[in-house]
Amino acid sequence: MDIELVTPGDEARLRAWWEVEDAARRADAPWLPTNPVQELLLEDDSNRRSSRRERHAAVLDGRVVGGLVLELPLLDNTETLIATVMVHPDHRRRGIGRQLFDHAVARGRHERRPLLIGEVAEPLDVATVAPGAAFATSVGGRRALSEICRALDLDTALDHRLSALAETSRQHAAGYELVQWAGPAPDELVDDLARLQALMSTDAPLDDLQWSPEVWDAARIREGEEEAAAKERVWVTTGARHVASGRLVAYTDIGVSIHLPGTAFQWTTIVDRKHRGHRLGMLVKTANIALLAAHCPGVRRVITWNAETNDHMVAINVEMGFQKVGRWAEWQLEVPPA
Ligand SMILES: CC(C)(COP(=O)(O)OP(=O)(O)OC[C@H]1O[C@@H](n2cnc3c(N)ncnc32)[C@H](O)[C@@H]1OP(=O)(O)O)[C@@H](O)C(=O)NCCC(=O)NCCS
Repeated sequence: MDIELVTPGDEARLRAWWEVEDAARRADAPWLPTNPVQELLLEDDSNRRSSRRERHAAVLDGRVVGGLVLELPLLDNTETLIATVMVHPDHRRRGIGRQLFDHAVARGRHERRPLLIGEVAEPLDVATVAPGAAFATSVGGRRALSEICRALDLDTALDHRLSALAETSRQHAAGYELVQWAGPAPDELVDDLARLQALMSTDAPLDDLQWSPEVWDAARIREGEEEAAAKERVWVTTGARHVASGRLVAYTDIGVSIHLPGTAFQWTTIVDRKHRGHRLGMLVKTANIALLAAHCPGVRRVITWNAETNDHMVAINVEMGFQKVGRWAEWQLEVPPA
């Protein structure tokens, strides 16, 4: 078996690589659709300032049977390599995953990144050990952060419930006003968005995950927007502005691929610590679902992830009607020197 770097633009190889990702996803996390193949074909991160991504393919007799994605953060967490190993279900338990993992370790050593993070999808039933968890344990990893994935199905009954929640929230949020937009943010709000986005890496629970505070500025926000647009995603954002200071103090955004129009993904939700306790989280989330429904009427389901220990965010999502669909975990490993 060979491990080969997948070069951007190699459409046949990228499609074969995606087939493996999709087969693995259907086997291990059927509740989570694979990002559409078009995103892979359109991906171009050659000029990205914030991170670098590499894809490697495990090739057996000319066929792709496994894949490895490596993500190298460049502005923060520069000792960390995020590695995702996947093997086609028809080719498992033959050591392919292990070889891909060894390749990730070698790349990590070469890049002087001794901290490896891997993500594993798991079924809701905690008694079932997912292949990914068994594998991560076998290579010496430890579970650092446990998350629950939830989905909200958009239907007319939901409209009434969300309107009622929005109304109650508004009564607690005197002194704040909503701002909404689709696509790139208005120029005057980008600095506030960057400040709030950075809080996601310090204020959301990380449990045992070693993850340093992220460095965000307006340029990084714009870079993320450009990447989303290049991959043909659309997204809607709702923020709360503190009227007295004019600052944006909370926001939430949801993205959806035009190639997977029925499923949307919750991205960021954050409320500045100094402005908590005014139901701003519920206010922006309910308003953003309404904006999503108006802007992307084909969306039927919104998917979100939360740390199991993120009580406040989970409480809001449960009240809105999000239901558990699966588990998700971040595993971590310190690579010993060669
Ligand atoms: C996890 C995954 C990559 C393993 O691929 P693989 O090629 O089957 O792995 P290997 O054959 O190299 O297994 C190495 C060891 O991991 C452990 N392991 C792997 N899958 C296992 C399973 N289903 N049950 C129990 N142990 C398992 C075993 O100790 C195995 O050694 P053994 O076969 O000698 O007992 C594959 O199941 C997969 O693609 N899962 C979905 C994606 C995922 O969760 N990736 C993990 C990201 S960190």
